[in-house]
Amino acid sequence: MQNTTTLLAPSILSADFTKLAESVALAEKAGADWIHCDVMDGHFVPNISFGPFIVKAVAQCTGLTIDTHLMISDPDTYIPDFIKAGSHQVTVHQETCAHLHRSIQLIRSLGAKAGVSINPATPVSTLESIMPDLDLVLLMSVNPGFGGQKFIPASLEKVEQLHAMRNKRNPNMLIAVDGGVTVDNAEDLVSRGADALIAGTAFFKAENPAEAAKIIKSASR
Ligand code: DX5
Ligand code: ZN
Repeated sequence: MQNTTTLLAPSILSADFTKLAESVALAEKAGADWIHCDVMDGHFVPNISFGPFIVKAVAQCTGLTIDTHLMISDPDTYIPDFIKAGSHQVTVHQETCAHLHRSIQLIRSLGAKAGVSINPATPVSTLESIMPDLDLVLLMSVNPGFGGQKFIPASLEKVEQLHAMRNKRNPNMLIAVDGGVTVDNAEDLVSRGADALIAGTAFFKAENPAEAAKIIKSASR
């Protein structure tokens, strides 16, 4: 699939949680396509963020796609709760799923789109068999756990590898990149094959979020 405009997914992890509804409205007004919800359990990643309760509140604030990124151990236990909370797409980590195909089937059976995320140290090749069953891959370009980290340059080559594999195995699957995305690296990421860019700091902490959104969304192949 070739997108004409880049999909933008602001991560609410970097939003002002005392003004969650306003933050979501800001993203919506700036042309965001998805709202990215980063769920961290303090076990798989060294930080705790929020659970289905906040995802539900976000979903109630917007008609945008709720894109939930589960950085949690044993995701199968919680997938139904996050879909009930209003997630339209749910992404699990390859590193946390002993039976990845089963987790993907579970997400899809509950009516949501299914994604798999891989850490910077996990090779793209690990997705080859599961790719035909995926709606998206979320390529981590930082080690998951925190917003505001520096983009890992080796991720660029992984975007290209994913793009080549996607063309062969599942042309409808989207490639999303998460971590350290900025107005400066957006074009490079999209030209190598990214369809969607997750932006926490680059959007919510920007001096002018609307302008940042415009630049990121206009990145093209
Ligand atoms: C990292 C999260 C990211 C993060 C992005 O663990 O999965 O979604 O919030 O934040 P920035 O864009 O600030 O790197
Ligand atoms: Zn994320």
